[in-house]
Amino acid sequence: RTAGAAWHPVRVNPAESPFVRACRRLPVPHTPVWYMRQAGRSLPEYRALREGVPMLTACATPDLIVEITMQPVRRHGVDAAIFFSDIVVPLKAIGVDLDIKPGVGPVVADPIRSTDALGALRPIEPDDVPYVGEAVRGLVKELGPVPLIGFAGAPFTLASYLIEGGPSKNHDHTKAMMYGEPALWHDLMDRLTDITIGYLRIQAEAGASALQLFDSWVGAVAPDDYRAFVLPHTSRIFAALADLDVPRIHFGVGTGELLGLLGEAGADVVGVDWRVPLDRAAERIGPGRAVQGNLDPAVLLAPWEVIESRARDALERGRAAEGHVFNLGHGVLPSTDPGALTRLTEFVHAFPVS
Ligand code: CP3
Repeated sequence: RTAGAAWHPVRVNPAESPFVRACRRLPVPHTPVWYMRQAGRSLPEYRALREGVPMLTACATPDLIVEITMQPVRRHGVDAAIFFSDIVVPLKAIGVDLDIKPGVGPVVADPIRSTDALGALRPIEPDDVPYVGEAVRGLVKELGPVPLIGFAGAPFTLASYLIEGGPSKNHDHTKAMMYGEPALWHDLMDRLTDITIGYLRIQAEAGASALQLFDSWVGAVAPDDYRAFVLPHTSRIFAALADLDVPRIHFGVGTGELLGLLGEAGADVVGVDWRVPLDRAAERIGPGRAVQGNLDPAVLLAPWEVIESRARDALERGRAAEGHVFNLGHGVLPSTDPGALTRLTEFVHAFPVS
């Protein structure tokens, strides 16, 4: 035998995993499943590791990133790992003064609301985030056949944190800039787009098998405004990643009216929350895309019979799509019983694909 690649049988290659195959709309032995925020406070082993370690310190420590990313893979047997980090990590890495406050989320010291403030947003280089490449390489070794999903925040969602200075219900300042100062808005979005492309490429080039763009808060925008103020930037991101040969996933919350536009932006897979049934979502997204979702995370707080019947419904409707990756419609809630997630994973794996 000669080089490593020839030694491994095809089935240990993450690029041949059920998850990557479903993203590519190829036949699968079972519906693949992973959960947004699968690594996190629902797991006692996560809470133990994070004891006394600030979130952003954990995100810059390769050993912790690897171990926390592995925890839900070992416990639940999910079909993909997601890199443990946060959407604001690349912004912190290029020098934006921000922190992640427990129970609150990202908080930015000097909100960006003027042309002068844009100077803080320069493109990202691999040397800005050495711990990311190191952790991805460590994870790829440890995961073997299980694919690793790299991710980044999308420009709109990042812009909201930067402009508001923290989490926001209505994104007032963000929309004020979008509507009132469109040139400034597009300049900001362009810079965030460059950062996002750079950060996703760093993860893919280090070995991630798929990339997810989180535009969690973009559901706040009307379709015409999405087309004018957001789509040019998200389209540029997916086009810039097309040569990488890894599936690209595009996710947002409350995007029922935007699903067609999210498909247009160019991802291979569109994430859907629980507000639109998957068969209807697949119609709105259009052909040539797989779907990901879409159990309401709060369903996991109900008795097993309820979880099972809702999961069955999502799996049956998911068959209407060209490919289906089972997931929640948004992140795992911290109060979720991890046993319910393990049982749900087994149920999805046993459910016939057609
Ligand atoms: O398992 C995974 O999904 C990977 C880890 C992950 C985290 N954040 C870890 C985290 C991912 C993919 C993210 C992305 C992220 N961060 C998004 C997009 C996904 C989404 O939920 O819509 C957003 C909007 C953020 C911003 C953010 N960071 C919020 C809203 C919070 C929660 C604040 C809180 O404490 O409730 C964070 C902090 C954060 N990111 C935690 C984790 C595990 C909690 C911090 C902790 O455990 O102390």
